[in-house]
Amino acid sequence: MDIVLSGIRPTGNLHLGNYFGAMVNFLKMQETYKCFFFIADWHALTTHPDPKALNANVKNVLAEYLACGLDPEKSTLYVQSDVPEIAELYLLLNMQAYLGELEKTVSFKEKARQNPNNVNAGLLTYPVLQAADILIHNADYVPVGKDQEQHLEMTRNFAKRFNHRYGVDYFKEPKAFASDSQQMIKIPGLDGSGKMGKSEGNCIYLTDEPKAIEKKVKGALTDNGPEGENTSKPEYIENLFTILKVVSTPEMVTHYDNLWNAGEQRWYGNLKKQLAEDIIKTTAPIRERINDIKNNDDYLNEVIKKGAEKARESAAKTIREVREIIGLTKL
Ligand code: TYM
Repeated sequence: MDIVLSGIRPTGNLHLGNYFGAMVNFLKMQETYKCFFFIADWHALTTHPDPKALNANVKNVLAEYLACGLDPEKSTLYVQSDVPEIAELYLLLNMQAYLGELEKTVSFKEKARQNPNNVNAGLLTYPVLQAADILIHNADYVPVGKDQEQHLEMTRNFAKRFNHRYGVDYFKEPKAFASDSQQMIKIPGLDGSGKMGKSEGNCIYLTDEPKAIEKKVKGALTDNGPEGENTSKPEYIENLFTILKVVSTPEMVTHYDNLWNAGEQRWYGNLKKQLAEDIIKTTAPIRERINDIKNNDDYLNEVIKKGAEKARESAAKTIREVREIIGLTKL
């Protein structure tokens, strides 16, 4: 059976980008594939989070994953740092990763620009750790948002290089999960910026109260309306349509598209109202479940423990085989 794997950094609550970029695919895939979904707590360390906050965020994300509908009976749900085999594979894959390519990674350059005083080696080798996450279970598919495309490409390169160096056909080249109906997508922020993201501070969270969602959507950047018929939309208006497409019906999207193309004005208020209503429809039931699950520490602990056991079984097999290929077995 094909293997699916994906991860998330525990740096705060889940937002619409995480949900529509990744979670909706997880929910489909857990029905048909062998799935590994994990919380990338080592990846979160690049920014040196407060230990208490990190710990609380791991629990938050786990509760939110479960509330979204991930089923620990169907998928393996685990925390990255519970699987030391990933760290060993990371060390080994670092030998296949070159400084030049790591320095050219878009996410590295962006983070280095944002935080010039904290350009640490963990940040530089972030894509190698992500490759180790994926290759430790030899995953076939990785359902992620478009922002992770380059990391996936690098994973394929490290896998190919390893296979070539040792003359084996061991690691598969993992593919992004993109069916016809569900391409890799990028959910934009409501501030007119490219991407909804925690560090961008422009998120709608699954835990947001309806009032907060209405306020955030109302505050989205707009203008006076189209300047004529059939003009192209500026990015910040296109962004609203991108979100409308994932939360609303196709008829609703066509309705507002028609208003735009007719060059009409004064309908942004209605569009925003509709958008907020449909976002709330998606998030409200999840928000209720999050609150229940978060208070159930016994359940969360049991899920984490069982997940770690299952993940380690598969990871240990890979490490045994990789050590043998490399020549690290003794006698
Ligand atoms: P992270 O924690 O930033 O996001 C988790 C998932 O949510 C998706 N996502 C988005 N999708 C569309 N639009 C957005 N605005 C948006 N924001 C976030 C991400 O694509 C991702 O699928 N490096 C990864 C975590 C990771 C990982 C892995 C993923 C570590 N190891 C192995 C896959 C496989 C990250 O920082 O995602």
